[in-house]
Amino acid sequence: MITNQYLNDFYNNYDEDSRLALKHGSVEFLTTMHYIKKYINPGDRVLEIGAATGRYSHALARLGYDVDAVELVDRNIEIFRQNTLPDEKITITQGNAMDLSAFSDNQYNITLLLGPLYHLYSKEDKQQALREAIRVTKQGGVIFAAYVISDGCLLDEGFKRGNISVAGYIEKGLLDPDTFAAKSQPKDLFELVRKENIDDLMSVFPVSRLHYAATDGCALLMRESVDAMDDASFELYLKYHLATCEREDLLGITSHAIDIFRK
Ligand SMILES: C[S@@+](CC[C@H](N)C(=O)[O-])C[C@H]1O[C@@H](n2cnc3c(N)ncnc32)[C@H](O)[C@@H]1O
Repeated sequence: MITNQYLNDFYNNYDEDSRLALKHGSVEFLTTMHYIKKYINPGDRVLEIGAATGRYSHALARLGYDVDAVELVDRNIEIFRQNTLPDEKITITQGNAMDLSAFSDNQYNITLLLGPLYHLYSKEDKQQALREAIRVTKQGGVIFAAYVISDGCLLDEGFKRGNISVAGYIEKGLLDPDTFAAKSQPKDLFELVRKENIDDLMSVFPVSRLHYAATDGCALLMRESVDAMDDASFELYLKYHLATCEREDLLGITSHAIDIFRK
């Protein structure tokens, strides 16, 4: 089942559950949940593809929704099961976002594809995962697709924190020296894109976009300041973020983006 050993090694050694525990990390989760709550209705069925340890799946199951989850990596599935409470209406299946043949057409009101597109490196593979997410969604259902955005990551992980060597990436051919557009392969783990790439991917699907939002905006870039906020300041920051995260002039400087569209 595992097709990418780099991915397996990464998630087997990564504390996915703690990723969003700090204030700066919670902005992505709170923003995505804000939009899910806008479209989910009582009795809806949810599919989460690439559910990892199940933060979204469990949060939605605890709100009373019927949730099916698909995940590739064994260790994440094991933790997902440990995190499941007895009264949750939830299932987890090992599977690949590019082949959801275990799931029939037109089943889900809400489909979450929050993660697999970070780890698919060609346009064809990304479109295959999107096609599968659309296929299993009911007509009129809403799909949430998340991406890692190159400019936010370059500014934060590269120029600010030095975890990525920008010069080194250019030398290795992972960044275009003129446009700074990113290119990745499985060994690089994360596929970094820009909105223009997402628009191009989506151009072949007969769906209507409801929202395109900068999921965490500048929260990672200014993580020290966000983490130092008291609860009242953080609440105000979040209010500001939600009020501005779809503004066209702010969309590119974000570590993650969410594309929300109706089938
Ligand atoms: C960054 S995590 C996101 C988890 C969760 N959806 C969230 O947003 O918190 C990405 C998850 O997608 C899984 N994944 C990556 N590629 C996948 C694929 N092709 N099919 C299914 N799951 C995949 C990874 O194993 C990982 O657990």
